[in-house]
Amino acid sequence: MRLQGKVAIITGAARGIGLATALRFAEEGAQVILCDVDEILAKATEAEVNRISPSSWFAKLDVTDRGSVDALVRQVQDGCKHIDILINNAGVTADAQFLKMTPEQWDRVVDVNLKGVFHCTQSVAAVMVQQGWGKIVNAASMAGLYGNFGQTNYAATKAGVIGMTRVWARELGRKGICVNAVAPGFIDTEMTQKVPEKVRLMVTEKTPLGRMGTARDVANAYLFLASDESNFINGAVISVDGGLVI
Ligand code: NAI
Repeated sequence: MRLQGKVAIITGAARGIGLATALRFAEEGAQVILCDVDEILAKATEAEVNRISPSSWFAKLDVTDRGSVDALVRQVQDGCKHIDILINNAGVTADAQFLKMTPEQWDRVVDVNLKGVFHCTQSVAAVMVQQGWGKIVNAASMAGLYGNFGQTNYAATKAGVIGMTRVWARELGRKGICVNAVAPGFIDTEMTQKVPEKVRLMVTEKTPLGRMGTARDVANAYLFLASDESNFINGAVISVDGGLVI
């Protein structure tokens, strides 16, 4: 088992890619702390993950609330004694064409996707520095690499996540911590189910592998970057997009 004995915090774990990651990590022997704002959904997820990894548990967490993030990290450190992996997966969209985007749409997406990643990483990294090891993986996006129509706010945050990943890889690498990012293309989750069917079909046609990605496709990339198999990979951004952009 590739994560035997590891403690992993996963944000946005109630559904979609976060849920698939929690299940994948549990299969590989990790104790998973499932974090999400959606308590009702996450409780069902917790039961599903517990069937594989009984020591895993759910914590209600809004990544935009620094006090709650710090309290959760203290709780995990006190209870588990170490934190090996942080998956900064929580993310939201609030799409609109640039000229119509409201300041509220901008702020909402920046708060969760950018500030949330800052809060969680700063809090967990302090523990990892004391330990002298750790793996941090951030959810970027193809939109952060190439931009995407109607996603000024989202693309800005995901480009920001890539920038932060590279800074932290430099700053924390010498302290034994690897920081990397995954840039998914078009993945079939609730986030993309909001996208019009004709756009989903167009993207599928443009993808050399001829399909949308699954949440498990991304979970497998997170797993690789969280496991010892990637111990000399630091500051990388791995695309999981079926070759959509080559
Ligand atoms: P999703 O919308 O299905 O799930 C996101 C989860 O994050 C939900 O459970 C939600 O409750 C949680 N969440 C939202 N705000 C939160 C907050 N403030 N604190 C804690 N949890 C919060 O999204 P999906 O598709 O699973 O995406 C996961 C990550 O992958 C996101 O960062 C997303 O931007 C990124 N991504 C997804 C792509 C896709 O095609 N689905 C493509 C590229 C990147």
